[in-house]
Amino acid sequence: MEEAVERLVARTEENRAASWKVQAQLGARHNLCDWEAVFSPYDDPTYAWVLEHVHDQDTVLEIGAGDLRLALQLAGRAKAVYAVEINPQLVATALETIGSALPHNLYVTCANALDLAIPVGVTVAVLLMRHCQHLAHYFDLLQKAGCQRLITNTRWKSGVEVIDLRKERLPFEEVEEGWYACRCGAVGYVGEGALCEAPPFEVLNCPHCDCSLLS
Ligand SMILES: C[S@@+](CC[C@H](N)C(=O)[O-])C[C@H]1O[C@@H](n2cnc3c(N)ncnc32)[C@H](O)[C@@H]1O
Repeated sequence: MEEAVERLVARTEENRAASWKVQAQLGARHNLCDWEAVFSPYDDPTYAWVLEHVHDQDTVLEIGAGDLRLALQLAGRAKAVYAVEINPQLVATALETIGSALPHNLYVTCANALDLAIPVGVTVAVLLMRHCQHLAHYFDLLQKAGCQRLITNTRWKSGVEVIDLRKERLPFEEVEEGWYACRCGAVGYVGEGALCEAPPFEVLNCPHCDCSLLS
């Protein structure tokens, strides 16, 4: 597995410059904002953190799986992994590079994840896409499909976090003091700072929900 990941990383680096044009064209065709279709991998500590929060009984959906370097590692840990990536060049090169090392429990789809239904039985979704414009869309679809957790670095001012999709949301007006985090992607603080060390309240209808952060 480690060897396959190393081969993927090397192959992607070789092709990086050539892929800019395809990324821009894909973004335009699929109505994504200009940087959304750019493949930009994260660092190993980020992947290690994600892997730590996935269990052997999980069925994972990775949205925007890039060159499959994380999907491969997830497949070594979880029951099953659905990896969705919009960029055919990335997917083709990744699959060719992985070759016969393709794990039996990794299902790769080349498509716009915004057009797809959530596969049955997904317990955790991974969305590593800083400031993705469609968090609310994925959040709602995943929740409706019964997915339990969303591991993401999408929310403004947050690092990588696990959002518990089963948790009840608090109406924003009811937060008197403390951090809040919203499905639209916004994070903020209400009050004077007395609870600044406490975890955020997951809220409904924050003041940013009407602005362009929503999909
Ligand atoms: C920042 S990169 C991260 C890739 C991967 N998750 C990783 O950490 O190595 C985001 C990836 O998401 C893909 N992407 C963006 N929007 C997408 C969409 N709507 N459907 C499928 N893939 C998408 C991009 O093409 C890009 O490869």
